[in-house]
Amino acid sequence: MGPQARTLHLLLLLLHVLAKPVQLIENSDFHLAGDYLLGGLFSLHANVKSISHLSYLQVPKCNEFDMKVLGYNLMQAMRFAVEEINNCSTLLPGVLLGYEMVDVCYHSNNVHPGLYFLAQDDEFLPILQDYSHYMPHVVAVIGPDNSESAITVSNLLSHFLIPQVTYSAISDELRDKRRFPAMLRTVPSASHHIEAMVQLMTHFHWNWIVVLVSNDDYGRENGQLLSQRLIRTGDICIAFQEVLPTPEPSQGMGPEEQSQLDNILEKLQRTTARVVVVFSPELALHGFFREVLRWNFTGLVWIASESWSIDPVLHNLTELRHTGTFLGITIQRVSIPGFSEFRVRHTKATQPISNKTSPRATCNQDCDACLNITESYSNVLMLSGERVVYSVYSAVYAVAHALHRLLRCNQVRCTKEVVYPWKLLRELWDVNFTLLGNQLFFDQQGDMPMFLDIIQWQWDLSQNPFQSIAFYSPTKQRMTYIHNVSWHTPNNTIPMSMCSKSCQPGQMKKPVGLHTCCFECVNCLPGTYLNLSADEFNCLPCPDSMWSHMNAITCFKRLQAFLEWHEAPTIVVALLASLGFFSTLAILLIFWRHFQTPMVRSAGGPMCFLMLVPLLLAFGMVPVYVGRPTVFTCFCRQAFFTVCFSVCLSCITVRSFQIVCVFKMARRLPRAYGFWVRYHGPYVFVAFITAVKVALVAANMLATTINPIGRTDPEDPNIVILSCHPNYRNGLLFNTSMDLLLSVVGFSFAYMGKELPTNYNEAKFITLSMTFSFTSSISLCTFMSVHNGVLVTIMDLLVTVLNFLAISLGYFGPKCYMILFYPERNTPAYFNSMIQGYTMRKS
Ligand SMILES: *[C@@H]1O[C@H](CO)[C@@H](O)[C@H](O)[C@H]1NC(C)=O
Ligand SMILES: *[C@@H]1O[C@H](CO)[C@@H](O)[C@H](O)[C@H]1NC(C)=O
Ligand SMILES: *[C@@H]1O[C@H](CO)[C@@H](O)[C@H](O)[C@H]1NC(C)=O
Ligand SMILES: *[C@@H]1O[C@H](CO)[C@@H](O)[C@H](O)[C@H]1NC(C)=O
Ligand SMILES: *[C@@H]1O[C@H](CO)[C@@H](O)[C@H](O)[C@H]1NC(C)=O
Ligand SMILES: *[C@@H]1O[C@H](CO)[C@@H](O)[C@H](O)[C@H]1NC(C)=O
Ligand SMILES: *[C@@H]1O[C@H](CO)[C@@H](O)[C@H](O)[C@H]1NC(C)=O
Ligand SMILES: *[C@@H]1O[C@H](CO)[C@@H](O)[C@H](O)[C@H]1NC(C)=O
Ligand SMILES: *[C@@H]1O[C@H](CO)[C@@H](O)[C@H](O)[C@H]1NC(C)=O
Repeated sequence: MGPQARTLHLLLLLLHVLAKPVQLIENSDFHLAGDYLLGGLFSLHANVKSISHLSYLQVPKCNEFDMKVLGYNLMQAMRFAVEEINNCSTLLPGVLLGYEMVDVCYHSNNVHPGLYFLAQDDEFLPILQDYSHYMPHVVAVIGPDNSESAITVSNLLSHFLIPQVTYSAISDELRDKRRFPAMLRTVPSASHHIEAMVQLMTHFHWNWIVVLVSNDDYGRENGQLLSQRLIRTGDICIAFQEVLPTPEPSQGMGPEEQSQLDNILEKLQRTTARVVVVFSPELALHGFFREVLRWNFTGLVWIASESWSIDPVLHNLTELRHTGTFLGITIQRVSIPGFSEFRVRHTKATQPISNKTSPRATCNQDCDACLNITESYSNVLMLSGERVVYSVYSAVYAVAHALHRLLRCNQVRCTKEVVYPWKLLRELWDVNFTLLGNQLFFDQQGDMPMFLDIIQWQWDLSQNPFQSIAFYSPTKQRMTYIHNVSWHTPNNTIPMSMCSKSCQPGQMKKPVGLHTCCFECVNCLPGTYLNLSADEFNCLPCPDSMWSHMNAITCFKRLQAFLEWHEAPTIVVALLASLGFFSTLAILLIFWRHFQTPMVRSAGGPMCFLMLVPLLLAFGMVPVYVGRPTVFTCFCRQAFFTVCFSVCLSCITVRSFQIVCVFKMARRLPRAYGFWVRYHGPYVFVAFITAVKVALVAANMLATTINPIGRTDPEDPNIVILSCHPNYRNGLLFNTSMDLLLSVVGFSFAYMGKELPTNYNEAKFITLSMTFSFTSSISLCTFMSVHNGVLVTIMDLLVTVLNFLAISLGYFGPKCYMILFYPERNTPAYFNSMIQGYTMRKS
């Protein structure tokens, strides 16, 4: 025995136990004889929680439960549709459609009607190998209303491929056609309902919501769908989600449930979220909303799932209007002419029930109070128009159209052949017809892509209590607003439900707590910007070459500042540099010309050229200070000039040493003097000093970098100052200290020889020049530490040029003057006389 056969066997056993002979009252609301019967499953009563019927072998008595006004309304819709089809001469001409309807009372009673529909007319369900030529009681089943029951019923019916068209079971599970091959529906699936809800919340900028769900599959499933959908985009957060306690049907709210509910309402009162989404069957909400009223809530926005969004009984709790605004998701409204009258139409007086053992009580085809209660709501029902009713109506019509195809009907007659449900199912998948202006067909998942409406509850008499404010197209997945909501707030302002107010442009979100919707707004500082599409939580720094103002969303290119030729300071320094260059050139030529004269020789002889050539080069290199810094110019600025300067300084020092000390050394340390002369001591000294300097400069460069960098002008961040590396200052001090040492040594020698004849005495010059060089370096460093602008480059350049000018003009200038204007003093004889005079004075 295969698993299917075993299931069937079990079912048959059940059927035998449960099914008592059913005799139906003619003309009952629940039954209509016909050539082909449709099964109808509706919840006329509901018992939200009670699985107690599973513990005893009796079909539950639905009419002991609370009545569902809308359930009866839907059942009437099916009756209306069948009657209309039977009246209509073209859809199924000559064919009488009948129905058999059972109250499933939400989930309590769905196996029994399933079995009843499966059995043949004689309540007998044979065990067969092949059911392809089996004729069950009904050819198709409409309903039931909720997904849980629809699945249970489908588990029975799908063995026989009996088409099942449900009109308000929205669960996404039902789209799985391998599990539910015979299940079709005339409503969009839950994910569309959720999407519509999310788009509604997004439209009003609500991102901080409360979700309340019922303690059943409907609540849990949809609550989970919503939170998954919200997590996927992350722009709406759930402040908290709670399961509403469901009281036992007969006992009312117990103390445990009461405290659970009180906790929830207390949380609701404390939270800043103003939007409450409620997924629950409507009957479970009556107690809840009465409790809500007791708590005096105001200013909330309630979002109703389709299960209760158009419930007239909840709507009749008119004080609810004081708690805030009620919005709901439901099926689009299509008005069905004639239905309002039909809904409350009294059937002809039922024939007297004679000697029957009243099977109605066990079969749940019984609702004595339905008509009267529905009548009491008829005003609301009439004003609110047909929504889910249309789903039922179109489900019946879909089956009728399938029959029309299967029976190959023309305008006047149909072939009244045997209808096997599986054949009907094939036709049902392919129906495509227009009904009251809507093109109806089933999509790949067996859903009818009907529009959803967003409705607002209203309590003005004579107005539609469920006013549409927007509709949602499942195919486009887009919401369209057609009406403004009246919010019952001062000035009709839209209620706010945000964990944090959205930030101004250019403000980053600083998360507070765990939710992405809760944050503080922090201004982006100048120099940073906020790229919303990349990162809302961090201000990104602008690229180096760019800058931004406070609260920026983009950066702009900064002005680049560097020394330029056309600026006045540059011109002045350039003039000085060219003065230096040409005068050094002139000095070089004069010295070259008078190379053999004692003046040149006393100035250092060949060593003069060792000073003059670097000087000349240094003046020639001054343009590297001007223009956009590059690696090369930075290298020159930081290395070349200081090395040149050191060369000059060491030459002067060694020259002073020679003049003052060489004789003494020759006298006292003849061997050292021998070495000094033999190994060209002065040049070795200069080379040594130069090498040390080069090493220092190189080390300095390696420690930092010679790449030019851009720094923000402290006075104006829109400007970026391009300069060589910022640690240049330390390097400069370092270099200066070495130069200082050299000049102190040079000065000491010069001081020792202060009584030498003037043409040998450079003490004054060295003192002056070194003092200048030293103070200028110190002041430059001080200046650099307080100022960062282009001025630093100018100062640096000016100091460099002046230092070189000092050497060039201060040291060589007087000598040239003598050479040119007092040639008589530039003779060996004159020098000899001077030296003799000096020696005589000394002795
Ligand atoms: C069907 O036809 C009958 C008789 O003409 C009429 O009384 C009834 O209202 C019609 N029903 C519908 C649903 O149109
Ligand atoms: C609600 O308001 C009524 C009357 O204003 C008051 O008596 C009652 O205590 C309030 N209930 C709560 C829970 O605040
Ligand atoms: C009452 O029951 C008897 C037998 O049980 C039957 O013969 C008779 O026709 C029934 N009466 C009606 C009105 O159905
Ligand atoms: C329905 O209402 C009518 C009168 O309005 C009344 O006669 C009848 O008994 C009521 N039916 C039920 C089942 O309450
Ligand atoms: C609506 O509620 C009021 C009292 O709250 C009640 O009197 C009335 O009968 C209810 N309406 C319906 C149609 O039940
Ligand atoms: C249904 O029929 C209409 C016109 O009769 C056609 O435009 C439409 O594409 C059909 N839809 C499907 C799903 O076959
Ligand atoms: C809603 O009201 C605003 C002005 O208050 C108006 O601009 C807008 O068009 C209205 N929207 C709809 C759908 O009526
Ligand atoms: C309502 O609007 C008026 C005028 O536009 C304004 O003075 C008043 O402050 C508003 N009230 C509220 C609560 O926003
Ligand atoms: C922002 O980020 C996106 C994606 O990372 C990028 O394509 C875009 O260019 C950025 N915009 C700005 C102004 O940086």
